[in-house]
Amino acid sequence: MEEQNGNGERMKRVGDSKLRKEAEELVRQLTLDEKISMIHGAELFRTAPVERLGIPALTMSDGPMGVRQEFEPASWKSVGGNDDYVTYLPCNSALAATWSRELAMLTGEVLGEEARGRGKDVILGPGVNIKRSPLCGRNFEYFSEDPYLTKEMAVPYIQGVQRWDVAACVKHFAANNQETQRLWVDVKVDEKALREIYLPAFYDAVKKGNCYAVMGAYNKIYGEHCCQSDYLLNRILRKEWGYDGVVISDWGGVHDTKAAADSGLDLEMSVTDNFGEYYMAKPLKKMVEEGTISEKAIDKKVMHILMLMKRLHMLGGERKSGTYNTPEHRQAALDVARESVVLMKNSSNKLPLQLGDARELLVIGENADLMHAPGGGSAEIKALYEITPLMGIKALLGGNAKVSYVKGYCQDPKEKEDVVNWQADSLENGGGQTGNENQKDEALMLYRKLLREEAVMKAKEFKQVIFIGGLNHEQDCEGNDRTDMKLPYEQDRLIQEILDVNPNTVVVLVGGSPVEMGGWIDHADSVVWGWYAGMEGGTALAEVLFGKTNPSGKLPECFYKTHTDCSAHAWGNFAKKHTVDYAEGVFVGYRYLDAYHVEPEFCFGHGLSYTSFTYGPAQLVEENGRIYAECTVSNTGKMDGKETVQAYLAPKTRTEDEPVRQLKGFEKIFLKSKEQRKLRIEIEGYSEVMDVWLGSSLKDLRVCAKMKGENNNV
Ligand code: BGC
Repeated sequence: MEEQNGNGERMKRVGDSKLRKEAEELVRQLTLDEKISMIHGAELFRTAPVERLGIPALTMSDGPMGVRQEFEPASWKSVGGNDDYVTYLPCNSALAATWSRELAMLTGEVLGEEARGRGKDVILGPGVNIKRSPLCGRNFEYFSEDPYLTKEMAVPYIQGVQRWDVAACVKHFAANNQETQRLWVDVKVDEKALREIYLPAFYDAVKKGNCYAVMGAYNKIYGEHCCQSDYLLNRILRKEWGYDGVVISDWGGVHDTKAAADSGLDLEMSVTDNFGEYYMAKPLKKMVEEGTISEKAIDKKVMHILMLMKRLHMLGGERKSGTYNTPEHRQAALDVARESVVLMKNSSNKLPLQLGDARELLVIGENADLMHAPGGGSAEIKALYEITPLMGIKALLGGNAKVSYVKGYCQDPKEKEDVVNWQADSLENGGGQTGNENQKDEALMLYRKLLREEAVMKAKEFKQVIFIGGLNHEQDCEGNDRTDMKLPYEQDRLIQEILDVNPNTVVVLVGGSPVEMGGWIDHADSVVWGWYAGMEGGTALAEVLFGKTNPSGKLPECFYKTHTDCSAHAWGNFAKKHTVDYAEGVFVGYRYLDAYHVEPEFCFGHGLSYTSFTYGPAQLVEENGRIYAECTVSNTGKMDGKETVQAYLAPKTRTEDEPVRQLKGFEKIFLKSKEQRKLRIEIEGYSEVMDVWLGSSLKDLRVCAKMKGENNNV
């Protein structure tokens, strides 16, 4: 890992005016054909080089959890070598659950160093779309339902990536919140919600993160496809925000040559191999020759690409070389995984588990033994390895403990044809919805019944049972939205039956989006949420279960009781084919639950610890025009641990169109048992008409921070 000091200079847009002059000179020397060859894919993940002038190809790769496997240049067949296994990082939802800007930076650094190590110039991430509904199939690739938390994670992540002379390509711009008909759906969102909820992460990615690339979204907004939208790309991104980096289309997101040429888009990529026929290939040349599109418009796009190459030191100068699969990278994956695990419920303090002398336990559930790296769509990872929860538990307890395992449930084991990646046909159906399971498959249903009966029978025999279920990438997957939040494969029934015979069971759920728990939550004393937590996810989970790591993850989204409690469903609509109406406006996630008094199963920011923290009185201080909340936090329990103090801004007198409170600051602090320390949190957007509340979650607010002289009692 690179030292963080001394890199500030590299992160800036170094000597832009000098680079600009050199790039302009290159543009003057390029022929129209050469220019056009630089602004569309010549391979699935690469543009054409202009060897005559020493301009290399631009090489891209997915995606947020690691660098993707190699495909053949013009077909979605994997090359199949053994040199493209990589570090598998926790998904963005897991990273957001750490509420740690440092870990976001570390994740970005690992990804950047591995991307460079694999010879890439652009990494297609992070995904910063807002989790508008818990049913969106790509939620696991995104950070949060909250714009503040999203941008606070995205900015250091981008800076981390770009330290390695690799561009982060922030995606998908913008309002890309459902997979159903993702290529065509038209988003109707009011300007206020767009500005306050859906755009802030992109804005900060550009302004603070200095991202070198942005990817347009597949969907339409206000009737225009995002990848060629005048409103989004010209008016907002280029003019208003002054963005001069590269805009890349999503793969197959361009639909019209003239609109694309006139928009702020620079590079058209797609999933098909007819590269010369792309909208920004031959058809573009023809329109330039006819005079319908000016060559100047092309020059601008080429300039953006050349400037990107300059910034990455691709056109001379010393470029970092990167590497992949280092022990430090695996350690980073473990560090993030450890802090991502969320202790949801521990009502009789059964956790952490103490096995006692017998050291015997039973693990039930397919997710205990399932590897998730290879699934999910373009975010799939060819992981060097993946420690499953079962492996993590066994490795932690060692050979003297007796860990028995039964599956309890299973997904449909039918063989899948995966010689050619699903992406080859991804433009053909535009995305849909997946139901829970095929109830009609009698053999499968019978098999599941047998697995369930076996698990319940065994659960009676053991003092300690750990159930490990949840979702997998059949549900959390690009191209599909879920139809509801129910656990698949009849897990609710299984969990209930296990709890009936053994109330001592710890329920662990792994997934990228919330699930309904209402059927059994009141019967379960101990519930833990793990995510797709990367190659060391199983190690981290085992450490939390057995108390080697004190959990500190906090939910980056609310866990609704059921999906109809979410405003996108209750108020607006979701998974529509033509137009999707964001009628809920800014009342997304907890903003809606708060204002309309809907109780979630677990609220935004929730996450327990094995120790306890108390908050002293809090004060607001002003320094250099910024407002900070200061508060002394004490670890009053027996175990060292980390607490994330969250700061919510609440209008003193609220108007109807304002949220009740909004996250506007947070800090994570490590405190040894009995230690106390003063913490300082910068508050964004404070004004005197607001109260600042500090708390351990949205529903566990502890103290209201006052300016000196104001009454400090709460
Ligand atoms: C996805 C993008 C991805 C691209 C390239 C598209 O299907 O929407 O997120 O980066 O493919 O694989």
